[in-house]
Amino acid sequence: MPDYLMPDRPRIMPISNPDRPLPATGAANAEAISTACALLAAGELVAIPTETVYGLAADAANGEAVARIFKAKGRPRFNPLICHADSLAMAKRHGIFDARARRLAEAFWPGPLTLVLPKNPDSPIHALASAGLGTIGLRVPAGAARDLVAALGRVLAAPSANLSGRMSPTTAGHVASQLGGEVALILDGGPARIGVESTIVALDGPVARLLRPGGLAAADIEAVLGEKLQRVAAGDKVEAPGMLASHYAPDTPLRLEATKVGPGEALLAFGADLPEGAGAAVRLRNLSPAGDLTEAAANLFGALHELDTCGAETIAVMAIPGHGLGEAINDRLRRAAAPPGSVNKGP
Ligand code: TXA
Ligand code: MG
Repeated sequence: MPDYLMPDRPRIMPISNPDRPLPATGAANAEAISTACALLAAGELVAIPTETVYGLAADAANGEAVARIFKAKGRPRFNPLICHADSLAMAKRHGIFDARARRLAEAFWPGPLTLVLPKNPDSPIHALASAGLGTIGLRVPAGAARDLVAALGRVLAAPSANLSGRMSPTTAGHVASQLGGEVALILDGGPARIGVESTIVALDGPVARLLRPGGLAAADIEAVLGEKLQRVAAGDKVEAPGMLASHYAPDTPLRLEATKVGPGEALLAFGADLPEGAGAAVRLRNLSPAGDLTEAAANLFGALHELDTCGAETIAVMAIPGHGLGEAINDRLRRAAAPPGSVNKGP
């Protein structure tokens, strides 16, 4: 068996993302893509860089390969996976696009938007990938992930490449530390450009619903749709695992809206005005000293990973504005701060 198929030793190969400084040459890129295609075609798992977070990918039509994703993540079976296409044309073979869906896809793909649409009955996507639902989550990612789907010629099911309930990985190193023993190959495309998961919009009924705020601001989607997105209300049935309150949890407790830093605390800061006691913090990470929410989103999971392992008793988190990508950042922070297993009481 070649080295890179050894389950406890993933091969890590550099791959270039058009929107990142290149970690790979053209030749390395071609080699990474052909190695990944061979593994995926054989039903293996490959971790892939996307512009949002790293994904744990498998051929969406191969039920055994998809089952391996759930096993590797320790993920509850009822959670459906996002399927990644290289184009609207490929996505249309799997989902039924109405005029609203076409408009959003044309405006934002490739990019950090997932559309939940009625599943095309002819789609070969395995029922396990859509958790047996009549709908399917589809997106066209930017960069290396899209190149890989194009080379393979079929959709890839890929949830974020973390253990279930843990923070999403934004570097190849994060993937290796959580899933190193479970994945044959990790493609290293450098740090994820956006850093939070895609925004999920359901268009499976007359009202467009925001299932998960993410890397594309809801207001940008509403501007193209010409209507407000319905926020999923408190008490609605859990439709996305991101809707379990304790998703994205670090081990260290988080204290939100902190206005001072106590003894033994690390500080997750935002903006130039640091709170009282910041100088004595066990470790300080500033998501964006300039107060830029896009920069803050890109740094969020990396900063949480670092503060979670710095030995602090608590992570004090400064208040972060709720507009633009601030909606997704605050959503992830609230979930990270919630006690394990608690149920979501609102979006
Ligand atoms: O940015 C992202 O979306 C990343 C990258 C890798 O593409 N993927 C990601 O996947 O965050 P995951 O599996 O961690 O989250 C996918 C979310 C889940 O909350 C899932 O329940 C929801 O999408 N989802 C997928 N298909 C759905 C469907 N048919 N109906 C409702 N929710 C769906
Ligand atoms: Mg996830």
